[in-house]
Amino acid sequence: MGADLHATKLLPLLYLLFLFAHASCSHFEALRRSSPNYSAGVCDLLLLPLGYPCTEHTVETKDGFILSVQNIPYGKNALRKNRGPPVYLQHGLFQGGDAWFINSCEQSLGYILADNGFDVWVGNVRGTRWSKNHTSFNVHDKEFWDWSWQELAQYDLLAILSYINLETQSKVIYVGHSQGTIMGLAAFTMPEIAELIHSAALLCPISYLNHLTSRFVRRAVALHLDQMLETMGIHQLNFRSDMGIQVLDSLCDDEQIDCSNLLSSITGSNCCFNASRVEYYLEYEPHPSSTKNLRHLFQMIRKGTFAKYDYGWWGNLQRYGAPHPPSFDLNDIPDSLPLWFAYGGLDALADVTDVRHTLSELRSEPELLYLDNYGHIDFILSPEASGDVYGDLIRFLKSTVGTRSSS
Ligand SMILES: *[C@@H]1O[C@H](CO)[C@@H](O)[C@H](O)[C@H]1NC(C)=O
Ligand SMILES: *[C@@H]1O[C@H](CO)[C@@H](O)[C@H](O)[C@H]1NC(C)=O
Ligand SMILES: *[C@@H]1O[C@H](CO)[C@@H](O)[C@H](O)[C@H]1NC(C)=O
Repeated sequence: MGADLHATKLLPLLYLLFLFAHASCSHFEALRRSSPNYSAGVCDLLLLPLGYPCTEHTVETKDGFILSVQNIPYGKNALRKNRGPPVYLQHGLFQGGDAWFINSCEQSLGYILADNGFDVWVGNVRGTRWSKNHTSFNVHDKEFWDWSWQELAQYDLLAILSYINLETQSKVIYVGHSQGTIMGLAAFTMPEIAELIHSAALLCPISYLNHLTSRFVRRAVALHLDQMLETMGIHQLNFRSDMGIQVLDSLCDDEQIDCSNLLSSITGSNCCFNASRVEYYLEYEPHPSSTKNLRHLFQMIRKGTFAKYDYGWWGNLQRYGAPHPPSFDLNDIPDSLPLWFAYGGLDALADVTDVRHTLSELRSEPELLYLDNYGHIDFILSPEASGDVYGDLIRFLKSTVGTRSSS
């Protein structure tokens, strides 16, 4: 038993070291070059210089994480300085709240919502550059990284949405992208969170992941990258670190993966990605996440479930009182919650088959926007998204504000 344990721990380690030793010249030096300025916040860096009102807030979760949240109460040229309906923006994996503001103010959803009269609130989940504080742990502690998207839904969303609800005395419109939709769909099954939500617009909606087509991610799953990292005692997943860059290099050591275009290899081709902005995007993205979160996502890909984290049967018995982790039941989402989904034909992460699976389990019928030529990143960074996507999103939001009571 002891020897077995050592062998299973050592082999992946040796394999990873072997891959690292062969990754001579990295494609990904740019990640290291553009180390961000950690002393400024999202308001200071992005919103205030463009003339938008913006305030920084901190919200503490039940498990002690201190999250930063930004509020843009109205648009740049607002005539009446009063607040519209609150909209909460939830970013995706390896992203932060900055993702809604890194194209021009005519192109990025965050600015567009403020300019359309919404009171915009921006989340930054635990572990991102903007939310690295905790009441008792610091980022070098293993405990700081002991969570997956399940805790992001249960704790981060509950804390932030309750805060906005209290500040605005209003239910909140939820807008999520990618992992922000996994968090949202899980959270909407929880009555204490669902009652805070007015309606929800999901970009690249994900609950099931087993039809994901991304070669890069499939390779990482096949290599058990998640278990390797855990075995090596790496709890923080940071692609700006030496270790993160080596992980990318080792995954790129495969002829079928084109790592000169890493973003497409991971997310699928994007119709409208502005490659001349990459250096600028890299000043903000990618943000760190946890290895445990990666494991949870890989469990979904391997098993085809939308369920809580799988600790193995013994760990599950202790935590859940059952050998298998309980599923999030999409049928528990109230059918009175208005939903709008936008998804794309080229998305290698939110596959159309998986989106249909999600739709088939919901009690309500979301309004749908399908774009044949859109990939995963286009929904937040396409310079054309304003016309292609956000116009319809705002039409939906306005229609729900008119029909549902706001408190
Ligand atoms: C980093 O941001 C702070 C706060 O906005 C600013 O005072 C400082 O000059 C910035 N440093 C660099 C190197 O840009
Ligand atoms: C982290 O949070 C604590 C409160 O728990 C606070 O005293 C401290 O100033 C914060 N640190 C930073 C860097 O914001
Ligand atoms: C692409 O990015 C460049 C550099 O920031 C910018 O000048 C150009 O306007 C962008 N293109 C579009 C279509 O937004």
